[in-house]
Amino acid sequence: MTISHNVSLKPFNTFGIDAKANSYCNITSIEDLQKVLKTESQKPLFILGGGSNMLLTQNVNALVLHINLKGKEIVEETEDKVIVKAMAGENWHEFVLWCLKNGYGGIENLSLIPGNIGTAPIQNIGAYGVELKDVFVSCEAVNIKDQSLRTFSKNDCNFGYRESIFKQDLKGEYIITSVNLQLTKHNHTLHMDYGAIKQELENSNSTKPTIQDISKAVIAIRESKLPNPKDIGNSGSFFKNPIVSTEHFNRLKENFPEIPSYKISDSEVKVPAGWLIEKAGFKGKRFGDYGVHNKQALVLVNYGNANGKDIFELAQLIQKTIKRLFEIDIETEVNII
Ligand code: EPU
Repeated sequence: MTISHNVSLKPFNTFGIDAKANSYCNITSIEDLQKVLKTESQKPLFILGGGSNMLLTQNVNALVLHINLKGKEIVEETEDKVIVKAMAGENWHEFVLWCLKNGYGGIENLSLIPGNIGTAPIQNIGAYGVELKDVFVSCEAVNIKDQSLRTFSKNDCNFGYRESIFKQDLKGEYIITSVNLQLTKHNHTLHMDYGAIKQELENSNSTKPTIQDISKAVIAIRESKLPNPKDIGNSGSFFKNPIVSTEHFNRLKENFPEIPSYKISDSEVKVPAGWLIEKAGFKGKRFGDYGVHNKQALVLVNYGNANGKDIFELAQLIQKTIKRLFEIDIETEVNII
């Protein structure tokens, strides 16, 4: 285990921003993680997973701990179910594909989400009607201060929409090292209500879809809307979908009858931020090396050598415009560093 200095983080963030880490350490075992924390935990630390949910607006003046713990194993198995333990540094989508190859169902709707296993619980990743919490059993995490290893049950994690205790009360206190998920071996519960999935399955004539068919449909939808970070730097949805009161929504509907929405409760409605941003005229707008994706306005993109500050300023301009036009505050989903 070595600590290097002045390391470019460009290969380690899906936005492809060329910011530098003051110091950098590649972590491949829990023991090494505990060792480095023991000597360095007083210094500023920056925990890096798949780098798929952050925008670097400056150099990172800290010791970057790059969590590359690998491995997956079945820890419990019955006739119908398995509990799989996956280490934090495993790539999420490769893990989904491995599950599908083994016939394990539950996360097929979460195909092609960028990032690693270890960061999935932090924001309770979700797509097409499924969230991580639906299959989550527990995770293990190292306490940064005293290096103890703690198990968090699903209940402990306080999952919400793109939320968990790791973003709230315990922010900056733990490093997730592995996640246990419960998956089905047969009689899978298929989630196909999402309009685009239905459509995609119809197009491919899947009358009795399998978990593999659903994964293929999700991959096709994502590839048609979301840029692949290998080609165009991005962090998926840059903003969260805002939740507004039903009264506020009804007022908006008078001016914009076509506004889409999802009912949350009798008093609250979720509005797609992508629609608001498109309506505000930002969709497909390009400013030099950065801009708003032309197929999904919720995604900000780096076409080459954009710097994080410029992208952040664009994000702020979008927030101000949405506030002015719709009286809605949209929060970033991506962590701004
Ligand atoms: N829309 C527009 N213009 C746009 C984008 C969207 O009008 O440019 C409208 C669509 O027509 C649709 C609605 O907004 O009526 C919803 O769009 P979409 O189905 O693309 O989903 P989303 O709400 O924009 C969320 C997640 C995505 C996830 C999809 C599918 C958030 C912040 N984003 O996007 O998650 O893949 O649903 O479940 O909740 C991510 O978190 O990185 C991510 C990509």
